[in-house]
Amino acid sequence: MPPWHVLATFPPRHCYLPSPLLMTSSMNLNEYAPAALECRQLSKRYGERSVLRALDFRLEAGEYVAIMGESGVGKSTLLNLIAGLDAPDSGALLIDGEPVDALDDAEATRLRRAKLGFVFQAFHLLPHLDLLQNVALPLKLNGMPEQRARDMLAAVGLAGRERDFPRQLSGGEMQRVAIARALAHRPRLLLADEPTGNLDPDTAADILQLLKAEIRDSQAAAVIVTHSPAAAASADRVLLLTRDGLNALSPTALATR
Ligand SMILES: Nc1ncnc2c1ncn2[C@@H]1O[C@H](COP(=O)(O)OP(=O)(O)O)[C@@H](O)[C@H]1O
Ligand SMILES: [Mg+2]
Repeated sequence: MPPWHVLATFPPRHCYLPSPLLMTSSMNLNEYAPAALECRQLSKRYGERSVLRALDFRLEAGEYVAIMGESGVGKSTLLNLIAGLDAPDSGALLIDGEPVDALDDAEATRLRRAKLGFVFQAFHLLPHLDLLQNVALPLKLNGMPEQRARDMLAAVGLAGRERDFPRQLSGGEMQRVAIARALAHRPRLLLADEPTGNLDPDTAADILQLLKAEIRDSQAAAVIVTHSPAAAASADRVLLLTRDGLNALSPTALATR
């Protein structure tokens, strides 16, 4: 069952920007926006197995980061903690500057529903809803006008398919719908866990290009977990998750993977 709050978003509750009258051309807008995401000393263990150890990570507003790492190292665990699908044992998580652990469950769900979008490897479209209803879901959950669902379907190349059902689509088309849904409510942060893992290489390349374009269009920050060096190379930063935590992967190191 897909986690409803991560399928969904927005408008921002706070205005972080200074008055346009006070701004000069040398001002960097990001200096006034909180980080899209901050993980402070985040730790998670399953039984005896310690998966994440005091992990620190900061993602600026609008930044696009790829995370790579061996299977089983904890990439999905990290995304699941951010999305609230699992709870950390210790540490703090701030989404768009708001400390999630300071909120009660209902408030944390509302925050995540508004601020996050999630693209899953296995798409997770709802089979009994048509494409328009699937994409409108986060808008509905956030009490936002549903017109944008139609626009998002068109943006991912599926205009005219609104009344089709997921079973009528190819894998690539299903992932297009999932991207439209993840960004429909204009989330501040998009999380994607191996979004092309179930697609053939040509379709995967198309989908990644589309995903990146749509993220840029929405001015969302993004964390993409991928095994593909080519996919990672298109990110602003590439990080490698190991037992020692998240560390930058240089273009040279990336090229040899
Ligand atoms: N819900 C869970 N219960 C127990 N162990 C889990 C659970 N989720 C993940 N793990 C374990 O945590 C480790 C990291 O898993 P995961 O985050 O899925 O790795 P990755 O996505 O990097 O392949 C693995 O050893 C996995 O078996
Ligand atoms: Mg995984």
